[in-house]
Amino acid sequence: MRDRRLYLDNAATSFPKPAAVHGAVLDYATRLGTTPGRAQYAESREGGRIIRRCRERLVEFFGGDSPDHVVFTLNCTDALNLAIKGVVGHRLRTRPGRPVHLVATAMDHNSVLRPLNALAGAGVEWTCVEAASGDGHIDPGDVERAITADTALVIGNHASNVTGVIQPIAEMAALCKQHGVLFLADVAQSLGHVPVDIRAMSIDLLAFPGHKGLLGPLGTGGLYIRPGLEEQIDSLREGGTGTRSEADTQPTFMPDKYEPGSHNAVGIAGLSEAVAYHLDRGIADSRSHEMELMTALLDGLRAGGARVHPHADGWTGDGPLADLTLHGPATPRDRIGVFSLTHAHADPATFAAVLELKHNILVRAGLHCAPRAHRTLGTLGGPGPAGAVRASLGPFIEIPDIHRLVDGLTAACRELRTTDAGAESKLLV
Ligand SMILES: Cc1ncc(COP(=O)(O)O)c(C=O)c1O
Repeated sequence: MRDRRLYLDNAATSFPKPAAVHGAVLDYATRLGTTPGRAQYAESREGGRIIRRCRERLVEFFGGDSPDHVVFTLNCTDALNLAIKGVVGHRLRTRPGRPVHLVATAMDHNSVLRPLNALAGAGVEWTCVEAASGDGHIDPGDVERAITADTALVIGNHASNVTGVIQPIAEMAALCKQHGVLFLADVAQSLGHVPVDIRAMSIDLLAFPGHKGLLGPLGTGGLYIRPGLEEQIDSLREGGTGTRSEADTQPTFMPDKYEPGSHNAVGIAGLSEAVAYHLDRGIADSRSHEMELMTALLDGLRAGGARVHPHADGWTGDGPLADLTLHGPATPRDRIGVFSLTHAHADPATFAAVLELKHNILVRAGLHCAPRAHRTLGTLGGPGPAGAVRASLGPFIEIPDIHRLVDGLTAACRELRTTDAGAESKLLV
């Protein structure tokens, strides 16, 4: 009999979710079923309260000052677009003729890089801060050196979706504060995995997905805007809010300024229960569980003879996993549970297919929407195949799952070694 499916693509979206998340989605869809908070009848009022409670839980979880400053978005990409384009649009409108400069890093996801490149030109330019070639670590000093008199915004990735490295965003944010520059944190991979505290970390804008580490449904996410900053960020969409309907211009108060149209109330109801799960469990417990899993996986890779880049003591490259290289920190405290591996001979898609078809282990092969991160690591392609195989952990993974992953990797390496290129396709049937 086939082993049960082992889902290790939690960096894309988490699975499974807590049962209460599905319960809340079903309850909203089948019992309330209406637009939240905009009509006078009881179901709509209850929907409004559910949305409000989700905002309250979110600010409690990440240390915001005001629930009204949580803006719900489609996902983290949508939140990043709102923050970046809203800041740039406001600057261009209020300081005509003056250039707008932004700073991001080579470890950023395409959800940052593509909006920046779409804006570049006609008075907008951005600087890419390079990262360490081994694990993608960013030096806050390099971020500071990239700031100019025209810099409006610095964007910092809290944890890499390729190497898992945790970046010193509190230091980056503190430097931005000294220079009077806004700091936008992309916590797509960290929220729900490591502590995030807006106040303690001096974060101005926080872009987050609801569906990854927070454990909410797909189609949820948000941008937290530090109170007062909404005056410096234009809206990207205008429309009905159910408030001030006598006016045909967008309200300027929060959160309505940025939330025209009907909410994804079904998703937000689920998200609220997901955040309640985290508030109940506590981020310290989630982090220590992930630390145990990471320790077990790193031990298994090292004991199997995998290599690590950058090199660390004890990683010999001698053993059944010798064809594998891990790209990223070898120490749990410096990382989250996102592990990118390359195989010396097999391309990532083949390696991932062997893991899926022969071992029922689901990982993600490719470039993970982070071309500059892969270029930094030397895995963007060229002489060798492009990308890596990424296994990403979630809160419901247990130690036996990690052993199964190590066994699956070991078997896949053996199977690929005993196969020539022509026979690779046979391996996959
Ligand atoms: C670092 C990072 N930022 C942003 C995103 C975009 O998130 P979403 O899928 O919610 O749009 C991702 C998604 O993988 C990510 O890893």
